[in-house]
Amino acid sequence: MQVSYHGHSIVKLKTRGKVILFDPFITGNHLTDLIVEDEKPDVILLTHGHNDHVGDTVAIAKSCEALIVAPFELANYLESQGLNVHGMNPGGSHEFDFGTVKLTKAFHSSSYTTRGNEVVYTGQPAGILFMAEGKTIYHAGDTGLFGDMELIGKRHPIDVAFLPIGDNFTMGPTDAAFAVELLRPAVSIPIHFNTFPVIKQDPALFKTLVKGHQVKVLDVGEILDC
Ligand code: NI
Ligand code: MN
Repeated sequence: MQVSYHGHSIVKLKTRGKVILFDPFITGNHLTDLIVEDEKPDVILLTHGHNDHVGDTVAIAKSCEALIVAPFELANYLESQGLNVHGMNPGGSHEFDFGTVKLTKAFHSSSYTTRGNEVVYTGQPAGILFMAEGKTIYHAGDTGLFGDMELIGKRHPIDVAFLPIGDNFTMGPTDAAFAVELLRPAVSIPIHFNTFPVIKQDPALFKTLVKGHQVKVLDVGEILDC
């Protein structure tokens, strides 16, 4: 499996001949190397309804008929926009032809603001476990530190964990380092930082704070084989 990081919370996986995109917030994301028109994923996985995660989902999915897997109410909203969706909720897993998806708890909020400034309720925010090729990837979404991270790591030993470190809306570097202690992933990769002034962080600090576990700070566009 190939994983790559594309700024903010965008992660791309390549497995079983399919391309899977997490939280494709491209327009308005000055860090990303992705271009909306070039992205033709088979699947888009969404952690929650905030606009810096749903991002360009509608435009991308309409251009390539990607399947959207998202928390139930967010999936329902995107279905109303004409997209092909599969709704789930925390604790539930489902086996797809591209891999198994399980949603986890995330300690956050979730709503989507439309272009008309209408606020849509989008259900429970989630983390996402993705399993394929004998590997387990954990994308924590937006979350604060919570004790059940220990349960997640025990229940599903994690190969690669993508963890937010931006602080203010999510864990900062210190709490994210503590999260690594609970989750015990083979490799941790920081996300959700430096996109906006309020989440400006030094990922090297996170790396320094994590003792006894591997951290890889991926450059935007950098690929990791796992
Ligand atoms: Ni959020
Ligand atoms: Mn966010």
